Amino acid sequence: MGKGRPVSVEVVVVPDPGPGEAVVRVQACGVCHTDLHYREGGINDDFPFLLGHEAAGTVAQVGPGVTNVVPGDFVVLNWRAVCGNCRSCKRGRPWLCFETLNATQKMTLADGTVLTPALGIGAFAEQTLVSAAQCTKVDPAASPAAAGLLGCGVMAGFGAATYTGGIGRGDSIAVFGCGGVGDAAIAAAKLAGATTIIAVDLDDRKLAWAQEFGATHTINAGAGDVVERVKALTGGNGADVCVEAVGNPKVLEQAFFARDLAGTVVQVGVPTPDMTMPAMPLIEFFGRGGALKPSWYGDCLPTRDFPMLIDLYLQGRFPLDKFVSETIALDEVEDAFHKMERGEVLRSVVVL
Ligand SMILES: NC(=O)c1ccc[n+]([C@@H]2O[C@H](COP(=O)([O-])OP(=O)(O)OC[C@H]3O[C@@H](n4cnc5c(N)ncnc54)[C@H](O)[C@@H]3O)[C@@H](O)[C@H]2O)c1
Ligand SMILES: [Zn+2]
Ligand SMILES: [Zn+2]
Repeated sequence: MGKGRPVSVEVVVVPDPGPGEAVVRVQACGVCHTDLHYREGGINDDFPFLLGHEAAGTVAQVGPGVTNVVPGDFVVLNWRAVCGNCRSCKRGRPWLCFETLNATQKMTLADGTVLTPALGIGAFAEQTLVSAAQCTKVDPAASPAAAGLLGCGVMAGFGAATYTGGIGRGDSIAVFGCGGVGDAAIAAAKLAGATTIIAVDLDDRKLAWAQEFGATHTINAGAGDVVERVKALTGGNGADVCVEAVGNPKVLEQAFFARDLAGTVVQVGVPTPDMTMPAMPLIEFFGRGGALKPSWYGDCLPTRDFPMLIDLYLQGRFPLDKFVSETIALDEVEDAFHKMERGEVLRSVVVL
């Protein structure tokens, strides 16, 4: 696969796990917008990539020294495995870990070409090699297709509202971009007891789905002034929390101005390297107060959050299944990218 070129299915050589590593038999892996960003060269130029990073499966083999999982465990993979030793971990802020763990050995093509696994996972494959710390054991009663989505988009969106945004009972929130990430932020806000939950998207179909996840109001961003409409729905003040889940400076600017005084703007959408901060008078930044916070993976802790969200899902309190628009085969990922671009799906999930 090269920059902007269609993805293809290839034979991948997966080494036996070394110290601290595990080989996971992938059961399901969601197609995330970040995979498409990789394909377009929007993340880095380390082609060829082994895409796929929203995965659940069973541990096939573990290397020496692995104690957190054993073969047969049902796990969700994560792309920010906390190291416990870096300066952020040592300061008691492991969710911001600066040295997150990945496998040290490389997976390759049959001819020896080294592959770059997307987000250190690479799970559009029957098996993948990861750091054992990237494996979080969860209740095997969960469907793999739904559980795998926790590995990225759903966790990032949930955490963007919950942890980064600190959404709580009675709060108002506006979520800009209602894909898998934005809808997870909406579902999280509902679970937390937010009373005004505003979904903003360009696509009416996305807005209808957002209502199913808990949006109390919707705004089509293609028609009229978005900031004014968020304000009109929040007593003229703006929302307590605004979540940018697109990855677009124009949308960040809307989120910034659509917030109440001292409110929080969370940026969970990933920008491309060419994008710049919206220009605005500095007095606006100062005068409005509050916080402007990027959200890496929703400030989650996989070992805390994956089992918790699986339990809530199994109790019928978190609608993980609703994010699965369709299940597809491994050779249908390219089609799934196009469906995502056309807004036809929340998540296509490859089932192996
Ligand atoms: N920060 C993280 O840790 C993290 C994790 C996962 C994904 N992401 C990022 O989150 C973003 C969303 O991911 P996704 O999988 O939900 O993507 P998606 O393509 O499924 O959803 C994006 C949504 O934004 C809408 N949109 C586009 N332009 C808009 C605009 N101008 N105003 C309002 N809505 C608009 C689209 O219609 C679509 O519904 C991506 O940038 C992705 O890379 C970040
Ligand atoms: Zn660390
Ligand atoms: Zn992702």
